[in-house]
Amino acid sequence: MFYKSVKFPKVYTSTFFVIWCFLPVSCVIYPELVEKGVNSPKSERCGDCHRDIYYEWKESPHARSFTSTAFKEETNEYQFTFCLGCHVPETIFTDNKVESRKINVTEGVNCNSCHLNDCKLSGPTSAYGPHPISEKDPFYKTSELCGKCHISTFKVWQESDVAGYKKTCQDCHMPAVQRKLIQDDPWQKIYPKREGKQHVFSYQNLKDKTLLVMSFVKVTHSEGKIEGILEVENIGVPHSVPTGDYGYREVIVTIEMQDKTGCVINSQKKSLFVEMNTALKYKEKMTIPFCFYGNEDVGAVKANMIRTSLYKDTNVLLAETIYKSSW
Ligand code: HEC
Ligand code: HEC
Ligand code: HEC
Ligand code: HEC
Ligand code: HEC
Repeated sequence: MFYKSVKFPKVYTSTFFVIWCFLPVSCVIYPELVEKGVNSPKSERCGDCHRDIYYEWKESPHARSFTSTAFKEETNEYQFTFCLGCHVPETIFTDNKVESRKINVTEGVNCNSCHLNDCKLSGPTSAYGPHPISEKDPFYKTSELCGKCHISTFKVWQESDVAGYKKTCQDCHMPAVQRKLIQDDPWQKIYPKREGKQHVFSYQNLKDKTLLVMSFVKVTHSEGKIEGILEVENIGVPHSVPTGDYGYREVIVTIEMQDKTGCVINSQKKSLFVEMNTALKYKEKMTIPFCFYGNEDVGAVKANMIRTSLYKDTNVLLAETIYKSSW
């Protein structure tokens, strides 16, 4: 008879666990998650519970910041150790230069680089969990956090005036999403959905197509040529396009003349580089004149703006426009 009630405690285990865990003092089930040095946890471990965030981060440029071919080459196969601070940081919570981590280096800028603060995992909202948490840290809502490593982009952002309202780096590069922070049992049964931030650190999924705008003006078509002006305007990106201090960053504006079947019969390109001072600054309007000869069969003039990379493997369309006429 009695043995049947052995099940009893099992049923209540998780409920007990819940109550226990909501008492902040007894919450520390996983103290190893806040270790530094050789015992520093892998981000994969965070991904056991924060699964969605983990997969976003893993696809993000931060997870490539050590393994990227360009970084490997420019550091002469990792010989320049002074480059490692921002690319493989232990933690950004330091008053001095960001120091490099010695283990799990292939993870680059990992979870604890940005979240480990003085033996706690700190974050932006109120939260109780099974590891030490320093909650409601306002630093996470600021561009200063990103500015620890993106130094000159942050400086430019700071100087950009958006009439009293400034969008932070996170507003654009970490889109808001409604979801649970945890995708593992028993935790996901306990915690409700709430607002979180996608850890994509990219601009590829920016929905707002009005930040960078291109348009054709004064297009004329006579005497065997088509000429005009393409205007390219940075209406809403509060840093230059492209931006940054390191690596190969080129944005290419291409103007193409197409025939009536859509084939390109002539084209013209302009490259924008930070280093050559040709990047498109915040609020700047750039004019690019064009002129194409031999236009009997013209169907349209098109323009696009593409962010490219050294190996042309991560090209992104930033803006496009088309001019059609009853030629
Ligand atoms: C065993 C599951 C588990 C693991 C492993 C885990 N976490 Fe958590 N974490 C939680 C839970 C549960 C919460 C609270 C969630 C909530 O309040 O919705 C939390 C909250 C957080 C918060 C607080 C968010 C805020 O807004 O203040 C941060 C930051 C965090 N975790 C980072 C990490 C990092 C970094 C790792 C890896 C080193 C990690 N977690 C590993 C379960 C886990
Ligand atoms: C610890 C230093 C560090 C912090 C903090 C940091 N980043 Fe980065 N970030 C990097 C490094 C290093 C790279 C280069 C990775 C690569 O492409 O190999 C990078 C790359 C990027 C890129 C892609 C750049 C490109 O050329 O495609 C974006 C966008 C970005 N970070 C946004 C952010 C935002 C937004 C924040 C703040 C929430 C932030 N970063 C915080 C170090 C950092
Ligand atoms: C480059 C810095 C950076 C890295 C790397 C990073 N985070 Fe975050 N994380 C942030 C910032 C900034 C916020 C707050 C964004 C906001 O609220 O505007 C945040 C928020 C969070 C939150 C709170 C809930 C939410 O979605 O806002 C959790 C949990 C979290 N991060 C876990 C992780 C985990 C797990 C990893 C690794 C897989 C990770 N973070 C990697 C900067 C980072
Ligand atoms: C209003 C939205 C917005 C805000 C705010 C914003 N960015 Fe961007 N960011 C973009 C867009 C759009 C791009 C793509 C255009 C480009 O390549 O410059 C971009 C590109 C980038 C890149 C890639 C660089 C490159 O060469 O393409 C980095 C790095 C970056 N941003 C960092 C930051 C940092 C750091 C902050 C905060 C100081 C910030 N951004 C604030 C919209 C924004
Ligand atoms: C202050 C922090 C910091 C330091 C120090 C640093 N970097 Fe970076 N690095 C970044 C950031 C942030 C990015 C992303 C692009 C940008 O904003 O400049 C980056 C991007 C890169 C890229 C482009 C990666 C890619 O995949 O395209 C290369 C290459 C690079 N860094 C090389 C270096 C070298 C070499 C050194 C040492 C001389 C170095 N970095 C030191 C912050 C840093």
